[in-house]
Amino acid sequence: MSSSRYFALIPAAGIGARLGADIPKQYMPLAGRPMLAHVLTTFAAASVISHVFVVVSGDDGYIDELMAAAPHLQGRVSVLFNGGPSRRESVLNGLQAIRPLVGDDDWILVHDAARPGLTGGLIEHLIETLQDDPVGGLLALPVVDTLKRSDQQARVQQTVERTALWAAQTPQMFRYSLLLRALMRALALAEAVTDEAGAVELLGLQPRLVEGSPRNFKVTLPHDVALAEMFLKEES
Ligand code: CTP
Ligand code: MG
Repeated sequence: MSSSRYFALIPAAGIGARLGADIPKQYMPLAGRPMLAHVLTTFAAASVISHVFVVVSGDDGYIDELMAAAPHLQGRVSVLFNGGPSRRESVLNGLQAIRPLVGDDDWILVHDAARPGLTGGLIEHLIETLQDDPVGGLLALPVVDTLKRSDQQARVQQTVERTALWAAQTPQMFRYSLLLRALMRALALAEAVTDEAGAVELLGLQPRLVEGSPRNFKVTLPHDVALAEMFLKEES
């Protein structure tokens, strides 16, 4: 086993436009606590994680209150006020800010604040599977629905073979220097990558897919809120 450490980096600088609440969705209360508090608590409680970094926007007005109300996060979580205009830039800004604190070969687990259903068991499963991997990888779910590609009029153009198709989740886990290099290159090429794995793929590498869980879905639309609360209440 290598001596690399594991760090969590949580991009939480979005506004949650599609959810349409009156506060950014990562602060929306779910099962009694802000969505982001669930995520931070899960990582802070995972002994395999050395430290947790959360990236919020420079004018965030909610994180101080969240941290003040959560003494169990003190010393385990650091807040970075340097979020960018897109998720990818928030992650990149966070990576640059933590450069003095992490080693090139340390693993970074990037996880969406909007996936509060993540569990310690899923974190352990991901790390156990990938700790000796030369590339890294991500949690993902095999697609179960039959997939249709549509034309402009919403008529089926084609049924897409779903065998071998996966829906990407987070955490996505890569070594620090590889991840930084991949994201900087994707940004320079102006490639439309939406996740860390996509940036690593642009380097010609093949991230490993590790089976996640439906409870780790991304809270995106208003109807997702009730389902997220159901999963979060289940665990307590
Ligand atoms: N995120 C970020 N910085 C941005 C945009 C998004 O850190 N400029 C974060 C979000 O806070 C979230 C994660 O990236 O934790 C996934 O993004 P998404 O679900 O799209 O959240 P939002 O961008 O906030 O939502 P929407 O796209 O509906 O506005
Ligand atoms: Mg978004």
